[in-house]
Amino acid sequence: MRAVLLGPPGAGKGTQAVRLVEKYNVPQISTGDIFRANIKEGTELGKKAQEYTNSGQLVPDELFVDLVKDRLMQEDCKDGYLLDGFPRTIFQAEQLDKFLEAQGQKLDAVINFEVGNEVLIERLTGRRVCKSCGASCHVKFSPPKVEGVCDRCGGELEQRKDDSRETAENRLAVYEESTAPLIGYYSETGALKNFNADQDPNLVFAEICAEFGA
Ligand code: AP5
Ligand code: MG
Repeated sequence: MRAVLLGPPGAGKGTQAVRLVEKYNVPQISTGDIFRANIKEGTELGKKAQEYTNSGQLVPDELFVDLVKDRLMQEDCKDGYLLDGFPRTIFQAEQLDKFLEAQGQKLDAVINFEVGNEVLIERLTGRRVCKSCGASCHVKFSPPKVEGVCDRCGGELEQRKDDSRETAENRLAVYEESTAPLIGYYSETGALKNFNADQDPNLVFAEICAEFGA
């Protein structure tokens, strides 16, 4: 499966990616995760990306389009991958198309998660992420057994810097302006598949699997 996960911040791209990775045995490539890892490690890319991600702005394309292409050339991507959070602009989508064409490949699907803004704000501001393993949960929708402690590894849970209400609202505005046009772009190519992501995560997953088969 070679697919793009498309949708606004908080739509559940990461949540579904974890399940899809297991079912279809392809890697998840999240540009947001790549930036956060680089910020944590204090790399040059991390230093440059930090101010953009913390305020909810998009990181400039030239900082990482090549980085994504290099990642897609790695051995574990040869049978497919899930792109989570990339492309996010028409320019990035065009770059991806050129790359795929040069490789003689094409996308099997663009999985578009549909959810209203009110729900998204509640999901983002209530999200908590494990400092150690990166697993995420939600204080109301999927609370940890012990407050502040990761169910998976016992690590400490924290809030992402960009999950404050103000930054979340900014991210939704950036999504509308820069990323939502991709819905039109991919519906023209015929790759777009819409999913109702405003329902239980198990149902969202079941609907995706029903579309793509076992
Ligand atoms: P990124 O990390 O990609 O963030 P995002 O797109 O804002 O998306 P999120 O990770 O916030 O949401 P998600 O859809 O994964 O939701 P999740 O599953 O966690 O990007 C961060 C930043 O990096 C950007 O702002 C930008 O600066 C930069 N960046 C990244 N890629 C870039 C690019 N290509 N170009 C330029 N800049 C780029 O779910 C959210 C919460 O809801 C969780 O708590 C979860 O438990 C809960 N939840 C999920 N599904 C459900 C459900 N069905 N019901 C109830 N609760 C649910
Ligand atoms: Mg995510």
